[in-house]
Amino acid sequence: MSWTSLKSHRAMQGSVTIADLLQDPARASGFSVRMDDMLFDYSKTTIDAEARDLLLTLADEAGVAHRREAMFAGEKINETEGRAVLHTALRDPGPHGATVDGVEVLPGVHDTLDRMEEFAEGLRTGKVRPVNGGRFTDIVNIGIGGSDLGPAMAMLALAPYHDGPRVHYVSNVDGAHIHDTLADLDPDTTLVIVASKTFTTIETMTNAETARSWLKRAIGEQAVGRHLAALSSAVDKTTKWGIDPSRVFGFEDWVGGRYSIWGPVGLGLMIAVGAKRFREFLAGGHDMDLHFREAEGADNLPLMLALVGIWHRQVCGYPTRAVLPYDQRLSRLPAYLQQLEMESNGKSVAMDGTGLEVVSGPVVWGEPGTNGQHAFYQLIHQGTEVVPCEFLVAARGHEPELAHQHALLVANCLAQSEALMQGRSLDVALELMAEKGLSGAEQERQARHRVFPGNRPSTTLIYPLLTPRVLGRIIALYEHRVFVEGVILGINSYDQWGVELGKELAVALAPVLAGDEDAASKDGSTRALVDYVQAHR
Ligand code: F6P
Repeated sequence: MSWTSLKSHRAMQGSVTIADLLQDPARASGFSVRMDDMLFDYSKTTIDAEARDLLLTLADEAGVAHRREAMFAGEKINETEGRAVLHTALRDPGPHGATVDGVEVLPGVHDTLDRMEEFAEGLRTGKVRPVNGGRFTDIVNIGIGGSDLGPAMAMLALAPYHDGPRVHYVSNVDGAHIHDTLADLDPDTTLVIVASKTFTTIETMTNAETARSWLKRAIGEQAVGRHLAALSSAVDKTTKWGIDPSRVFGFEDWVGGRYSIWGPVGLGLMIAVGAKRFREFLAGGHDMDLHFREAEGADNLPLMLALVGIWHRQVCGYPTRAVLPYDQRLSRLPAYLQQLEMESNGKSVAMDGTGLEVVSGPVVWGEPGTNGQHAFYQLIHQGTEVVPCEFLVAARGHEPELAHQHALLVANCLAQSEALMQGRSLDVALELMAEKGLSGAEQERQARHRVFPGNRPSTTLIYPLLTPRVLGRIIALYEHRVFVEGVILGINSYDQWGVELGKELAVALAPVLAGDEDAASKDGSTRALVDYVQAHR
C-alpha cells in the first residue's frame, strides 16, 4: 500500500524542484535531524512533508520498531542462518544486556574486551615482548572483507590518535600485497594477527601461511607462536593452526563479519590508539544505539538516513548512491560501506523465499572530496543518471595550523551540494556566452554545454571533529541504516550467500590453472582464459 502511495506521490510532485522546496525558510531545520552535536541535513532532496509521512508509515508497516527490539533482545533475526544479530552487544557497557539461548551475552563480551585490553596495552608498553627482546614495532593484521575493511578504514580515520606500534592491513590473496607489506618490516619486531571469523577463508589462510613462514625463517619454528595472535569464532581451528589459546580473541556467531569491528576484529585499532580511545569509539557506537532505540519518527537519525535511501533507490529509482567524505582520513569509508550495504542488502529474495516487491539496495561508491571533484563529478553534475550524493564533513580538522585548508575543504563540500541543487539555467549560460562575445547559433551551442540541470539530491552529515567517539557514532549510524532498509525491503541483511558460488568455482579452477586437471568441462570463454594464462606465465 505505502509503496503505491509513495510512487504516486513522487509522480504528483511533477515539476516541483528542491530549490522550490527550499523557498520555505523552515525547510532546512524541518528536514534535518540532530543527534547530539551531529547534524544530518536532507533538505536538499525532493522529500517533502507528505513524502516523509508516507516513508515513516512504510517503516511502521514493515515493523521496523518491533524488529529493532527483537534484534537488541537477541532474537534470531538472521533467519537463514538461525543466528541472533548482536554486534551492538560488543559496544554495550551493560550491566544488563541481551540473552541468546538463555545465556547472558555481556559477561563474555566484557571478559574478551578486558583480555584484548591487557594484550594491547602489553604491546604498547613493551610488556608483551618479541622472542629476541626489544619491542614490537609493527603489527600486521591479515584478514579480508569484514575482518579487514572496518578496522583498516578506522585506522586511517583515527590517525591523529595513533601512539602505539604501527599497524598494517593485508587482505588481497595477490602475493604482491603481503610481499610489499613484509618487505619493509623486520620479523624480529613484528607481530602477525590472523583475523578470520571462520578461520577458513582462503585468502586469509594463504597470506597467514606466507607470514608464518617469513617469521619462522627469522625466529625459528619453536618461537613463532610468540609472534602470532588470532581473532576468530573458530577457536578449535586457531589452536590446530598453532596459535596459543591465550593469544586467541574469540567472538560468537551472532557477530556478522562486516559488523565485527567493535570486538576482537578491532584489536589492531586498539593497539594503535590505546584501550581508552578504543572504549570511546565503542561509547560512540553505543550512543547511536540508544538514540536509534529512543528517538521518535523523524527525530531518529538512522531511520531518516534509511528512509532517504529508500526514497532515492526504491521510489525515485536511482540505481547508485555516492558516499563523498570531505575528510581524507575517511578515504576508505566508501569501500567499507560497499561491503556493509551491498553485502547486506544486495539481495533479490525476501525472508519468506519469495521475490522482492521492489528493487534491492543501490550500488554504493565514492571517493573523498575534493579529489572526486576532479574525477567523476562531471557525470554527477551533467550525466544522464541522477546520483544521490551523501556528503560527510567535519566542522574543523585536527591541524589548527592548517585551518585555512580545512575552511577551503568545507567550502568545497557545501558548494557541491549547492551546485547540484541549483544548477545553471540556459538563460544564465547564454548570458555567460554573450559576455564572451558570442551570439546567434554559436552562442546557443556553446551555452548548452554549460547548462547544469540542477535539482540533483544530496544529503550532508556534519560533525564537529572526527574523534573516536564520533567515528563510532558514524559507523553505528550506517549499520542501523542498513538494518532499517533491510527490514523495509523484507530481506535478511545478515547472510551473504551470494559470495559463495565464486569461492567454490575458484577452488575448483586452481588445479585446472595448475595443469593438474583438465579444462574440458569449462565453458569456452573460461577455457580460452585458462589457455592464455598457461601460455603466458
Ligand atoms: O566473502 C564474504 C565473507 O564471508 C564476508 O562476509 C566476511 O567478512 C569475509 O568473507 C571474511 O570472512 P572471515 O572473517 O571468516 O575470514
